[in-house]
Amino acid sequence: MLCEVAIVVVSIDILFINLLHMNTHFDSIADGLAEKGYAIADDFLSPAEVSAILNLDTFKAGISEFKKAGIGKAQGLQINEAIRGDYIQWLDKTTSPEAVRVYLDRLSELVQFLNQNLFLSLKDYEVHLTVYPPGSYYKRHLDQFKKNDHRRLSVICYLNPDWKPEEGGQLRMYLEETQLDTLPLAGRLVCFRSDQIEHEVLPATRERLSLTGWMLDQLVDVRI
Ligand code: OGA
Ligand code: MN
Repeated sequence: MLCEVAIVVVSIDILFINLLHMNTHFDSIADGLAEKGYAIADDFLSPAEVSAILNLDTFKAGISEFKKAGIGKAQGLQINEAIRGDYIQWLDKTTSPEAVRVYLDRLSELVQFLNQNLFLSLKDYEVHLTVYPPGSYYKRHLDQFKKNDHRRLSVICYLNPDWKPEEGGQLRMYLEETQLDTLPLAGRLVCFRSDQIEHEVLPATRERLSLTGWMLDQLVDVRI
């Protein structure tokens, strides 16, 4: 009995620590966005959460499950190897496996948090799994395709355990007076204003995996 009480107390404790941990993340992401237009949060996903995602059949099956990413949207979509070389698979929020669900639910909480704390009116978000084969890259670009685009914030979470600086694959963000390189370390989340921050993905010597998404000011379903 005492033992059961102790277990309940410990799990409430863990829950509390996790909530506290997430709130700290959310706070620092909101601060970063407000002050600089970008934020980097390490351990947004725990090592166990990352490995659950990497164990999904779709990642194990390899690149054949993915589509070559294009540039632009719908009819205007073009595939241009010289600009980007990644492969993607859009996630369906209603049918995603549990491992991905954990991430999507956390993003959904982040959307609500940012709306409340930064007075944004984000309505939805969209996410794809992304694979950059060794040697591939994404040249300098802005994530909004055109002025009236609905992408407000870009959010990328990396899934690469034990990534070393010499393996490359940095996200390079072009800031006002400088540029900032960030390694795609497992569990790390980068969030930035889609309309303001130009960025690129540098080539890596190893396959580079991530969850790439956007927070939108309109519902995904009504998107044209
Ligand atoms: C993108 C992109 C950055 C990254 O998919 O639009 O810029 O670090 N990704 O993967
Ligand atoms: Mn981009």
